[in-house]
Amino acid sequence: MSFPQPIELNWFDETRAGFEDILCEKLKQRKGPSTVLNEAIEYALLDGGKRLRAMLVFSAGHAVGTPVGELSDAACAIEAMHAYSLVHDDLPCMDNDVLRRGKPTCHVKFGEAFALLAGDALQTTAFQWLAESGQGSVQVRMQQIAALAGASGVQGMAAGQAIDLAHVGKPMDLSALENMHARKTGDLIKASVRMGYVSNPDILNVEKEGLEAYAHCLGLAYQVIDDILDVESTSEVLGKTSGKDALNNKPTMVSLMGLGEAKALLTRLREQALSACDAIAPQRRAPLESLVELITNRKS
Ligand code: IPE
Ligand code: IPE
Ligand code: MG
Ligand code: MG
Ligand code: MG
Repeated sequence: MSFPQPIELNWFDETRAGFEDILCEKLKQRKGPSTVLNEAIEYALLDGGKRLRAMLVFSAGHAVGTPVGELSDAACAIEAMHAYSLVHDDLPCMDNDVLRRGKPTCHVKFGEAFALLAGDALQTTAFQWLAESGQGSVQVRMQQIAALAGASGVQGMAAGQAIDLAHVGKPMDLSALENMHARKTGDLIKASVRMGYVSNPDILNVEKEGLEAYAHCLGLAYQVIDDILDVESTSEVLGKTSGKDALNNKPTMVSLMGLGEAKALLTRLREQALSACDAIAPQRRAPLESLVELITNRKS
């Protein structure tokens, strides 16, 4: 399929819909011998995600002049990694959640062992899709693989999740909480932006710095709004159990700062992310700016 140009009005919706078809097709091409495992993987990855990380890959790519069609494998990879993180995050040994994307969580539907395996397979699938991709040069794909691995592992998302679990019911100061949020959620957001912009090896330093600052602010904002929605929204609107952080005694921006301060922080991060876009030429920054609004105003 061909993707629309970012200047077109429906760029977001059409690109997201086009991406969904590609992701679905890509996943169905790689089935394994276990029907239950195949089903658990499809259940976790398809239907329901907002695909904001995929859109970040495309938008950062657009900012450096790379068309969407050259980044769809990277976008599929980040969504597979993210889906794995959600499946494991919901497990009884972690957040013990029963609702995700408006459906019973993967372990509720398929059992814990299959949810664990589905997460494992989604993670390796992400790397396989990048390694086998025909999009971009080998050097570009090596950088995308490094960005994704770094963001997911012992210094990134897994570390953030470990800090999260180690602080259940325990006090945390603001900088420790920011560090936890930056790792558990921010790092995959950063990786999405990096996987987009590394597609152009001739990127200017000023553009790279602007995109890094953008990703840092947006990554933190992503978890701040998540913490706010957990308090303010309903399970129906969220598609996941609301009020779960307090129930699980989790340290969050809201538990630490209160709702008002958390919202003020979100406003500051939104402004910082928008001004970081100034590093990008005006005709190339609209998708990045739209994502700031989408993420900081998200309701689910
Ligand atoms: C939820 O992420 C988990 C966090 C890291 C805050 P999303 O809100 O992006 O989840 P989906 O992919 O749209 O379901
Ligand atoms: C999620 O944080 C971070 C991940 C690495 C998945 P949360 O535990 O707050 O995410 P939700 O609220 O369950 O989506
Ligand atoms: Mg969690
Ligand atoms: Mg959770
Ligand atoms: Mg949450």
